[in-house]
Amino acid sequence: MTSLREQIFEQYKRWSPRSAALIAEAREVFPGGDTRMSAHFAPYPLFIERAAGCRQFDADGHEILDFMNNFTSLIHGHANPATVAAVREQIAIGSAYAAPTRSQIALARLIRDRVPGVEQLRFTSSGTEATLMAIRCARASTGRQKIMKMEGGYHGSFELAEVSLVPRPNEAGSLEAPRAVPIDASIPDSVLGDTVVCPYNQPALASALIDHHAKTLAAVIVEPMLGSLGMIPATRDFLLALREATQRHGIVLIFDEVITLRLHMGGAQAHFGITPDLTAMGKIIGGGLPIGAIGGRTDLMRRFHPDEAQPVMHASTFSGNPLSMAAGYAAMTQLDASGIERLNGLGDRLRAGFNTAFARNGIRGQATGLGSLVNLHLTDAPLHDARDVLAGLTRSRHLNQLVHLGMLQRGVASAGRLMYCTSTPMGDTEVDTAIDALDDTLRELRPGIGRELPGLLAG
Ligand SMILES: Cc1ncc(COP(=O)(O)O)c(C=O)c1O
Repeated sequence: MTSLREQIFEQYKRWSPRSAALIAEAREVFPGGDTRMSAHFAPYPLFIERAAGCRQFDADGHEILDFMNNFTSLIHGHANPATVAAVREQIAIGSAYAAPTRSQIALARLIRDRVPGVEQLRFTSSGTEATLMAIRCARASTGRQKIMKMEGGYHGSFELAEVSLVPRPNEAGSLEAPRAVPIDASIPDSVLGDTVVCPYNQPALASALIDHHAKTLAAVIVEPMLGSLGMIPATRDFLLALREATQRHGIVLIFDEVITLRLHMGGAQAHFGITPDLTAMGKIIGGGLPIGAIGGRTDLMRRFHPDEAQPVMHASTFSGNPLSMAAGYAAMTQLDASGIERLNGLGDRLRAGFNTAFARNGIRGQATGLGSLVNLHLTDAPLHDARDVLAGLTRSRHLNQLVHLGMLQRGVASAGRLMYCTSTPMGDTEVDTAIDALDDTLRELRPGIGRELPGLLAG
C-alpha cells in the first residue's frame, strides 16, 4: 500500500504539472531548484506568476489565497494600489542616489512617532542586517562580547542569529543552561562560544542566566513571539524579567520586532508595555520591498554617528534606498490602529476556526500565535518554548508537510511550517475559506493518520 506521504505527493504533482516542469528547469541553475531556503518545500514549491490583494496565481492558473504574505511582510497584500503608485513615481526619477533623501526622513519620523523604544534609527536592507547592526551597536557600547539569544529564536541569516534555532534534544543540554547548538556545519566555534542560549518563557531561569553571565554580556536579543519556531508568544513576565535583569547589569536589551511590529501601532513592545533599548525592524515597514531598520535610545544610536571617534561601521549599498522608502511610507501611512485591530481580529477568528477544525475531525492539533500571526501545530500538548514545539514536530513526523500540500490544493497558501498571517484586503470570507480548507484537508488525511500516526487521533 502506498504511504500517505506518497499519495499526497502524487496528488500534488498531478495538480501542478507546470510548476513541476519549472522546478526541473530551476534545478539546472539552483542547488535543489531554489534560491531561498525558507520558501522551499517538498516535493517542490508552486511557481507564482502574479498576485493582487490577497490572491496569487500560479503557473497552472490556480487562484490561491495568500496567508503567507511573503513571510508576514505584505500587510496590505500584493500590489497595493497606493504602494504601486508611489514606487512607480519614484522609479521614474531614480532608484538609488547614494545620497540622503526627504523620503528617508519621512519614513523614519513615522516609525519614531509610533514605536516607543525608537528615538533615532538607521535603515538597513534587511531584517538580518538590522539585528546584526543592533548586536554590533551593543558590543561597541558596552565593550563586552557575548550575546544572549533565546533557544528557538531566529534573527536572520548570519551565524549567531541561527545558533540553537533548532535545538536537537540530544545536543541541547539542560533547560537551566542550554548548550549553543549550531544550525549547520558552517557555524564557527568562536560564535558558539560568544553565544549564551536562554530558554524561552522561563523568567526565573533567564534572570539567573543573565546574572551569571552579566560581566561578559553585551546584549540580550529576543523576539516578543518566537516566530520561525511556530508563533509562540512570550509571556509578559518573561519579557519583564529580561528587562529587569538587563537593566540591573547595563546590558542592552534588543527586541527583534521584524515580525511582531504588525501586532500593534507601536509593535509588540507597545502591546506588552515593555520598552527595549534597541529594536530591530523589517518586513512591513518596506511596503513589500527589501528593508530593515534598527532604532533605539539616542545614546546607543550615537554609536553610528559619523563624527564619533570610532563609529560602528554601517555602510550597505541599498540602505534607505528611495524605492523602499516610498513603498514603506505608502504602506505604513495606510495602516492605523483600527486597521491593525481588524487584522488581529481576523487572526483570532482564524485561530478559533482552525482549533474547531481539529476538534471536529478528532485530530490532535492547535493554532498558536497572537493577533494577525497564526501557526498550526499537530499536537495538543501545551507549547511554551522551542523544546515543546520540536517535540510536537517529532511526534507528527511528515504530517505538517501533508497538511500544507492539502491546503495549497484547496487554494490556501501558508509557509511550509504552517504559519499564516492576515492582510488588510482579507475579510471574514477569506478567513472562513481557510478554515473550511483545513477542515476538508484533515477529513481527507484522517484515515491515513489513523493507519500511520494513530497517536495523533484524539480520544
Ligand atoms: C524575527 C526575525 N528577525 C529577523 C529576520 C530576518 O529578516 P530578513 O529576512 O529581512 O533578513 C526575520 C526573517 O524572517 C525574522 O523573522
